[in-house]
Amino acid sequence: MRQISEAIKATVGHPGPIGVFDSGYGGLTILRELRRALPDADFIYLGDNARAPYGTRSFDLVYHFTLEAVRYLFARGCQLVILACNTASAKALRSIQQHDLPGIDPSRRVLGVIRPTAEIIGDYTQSRHVGLFGTPGTVTSQSYDMELVKLHPDITFTAHACPMWVPLVENLEADGPGADYFVEKEVNALLESDPAIDTIILGCTHYPLLYDKIRAYVPRGIEILRQGGIVASSLLDYLRRHPEMERLITRGGTLELLTTEEADKFSGLATIFMGEPSTAMRVNDLSAPL
Ligand code: DGL
Repeated sequence: MRQISEAIKATVGHPGPIGVFDSGYGGLTILRELRRALPDADFIYLGDNARAPYGTRSFDLVYHFTLEAVRYLFARGCQLVILACNTASAKALRSIQQHDLPGIDPSRRVLGVIRPTAEIIGDYTQSRHVGLFGTPGTVTSQSYDMELVKLHPDITFTAHACPMWVPLVENLEADGPGADYFVEKEVNALLESDPAIDTIILGCTHYPLLYDKIRAYVPRGIEILRQGGIVASSLLDYLRRHPEMERLITRGGTLELLTTEEADKFSGLATIFMGEPSTAMRVNDLSAPL
């Protein structure tokens, strides 16, 4: 059995699939759009369902789990990994890019979802009042606040944490009546803190699975932004600007779905969500050999 670092070394400079990582199911909302944008690219999706939710965990733990997942995807041959998770993007991306990548393999790339979302937000809001729903981790990290101050200093930004929304999705309760209670509660809280908000970012990749309910409680006229399309366009733009990375993506149109929890449950949800028969495999230990 090979160790992860040996497997990473063995794949340096070799074309491979694009890695997509999330704490659980949420990143599927990004993956679906990535596959639409790059239908012939190969993808490996990894959901760390066994350790989800990440949103209520400490910085250190989210960083540690995310680094482990990134190294695992590198060992599986990915040269490019997308953190399809706001919490991981907020708490781990910068450290991985600045401190870990140079030692692991400086030619690989890890990209997140916060910067692309913050970049385009100015195009949507008229009132220049923007709200965000996110996990407690994303909200307390203030990552969006910091990006928006740099990119759109005229925007008044209010972030609101929804600690129950990810557990609802992970426990397949997104369509149940319990979800109505928690969605209405958080929507009212955000709009009471700033009634001038005309654009709301779903700043957690799990939240599009609650979209219909959120839409039902948010007044018409307020735009609700999902990140899938935004991240997909940003990736296309990135690959246009980085042909050296574009050439390192294998093109077979395949998708491998991996979860650290029960594979059947994951396959069922992925099939509904991806709109195609999807079979997931379980990975028991991300730090262990392949
Ligand atoms: N989907 C994730 C995000 O975008 C994380 C959810 C969680 O595990 O709490 O933040």
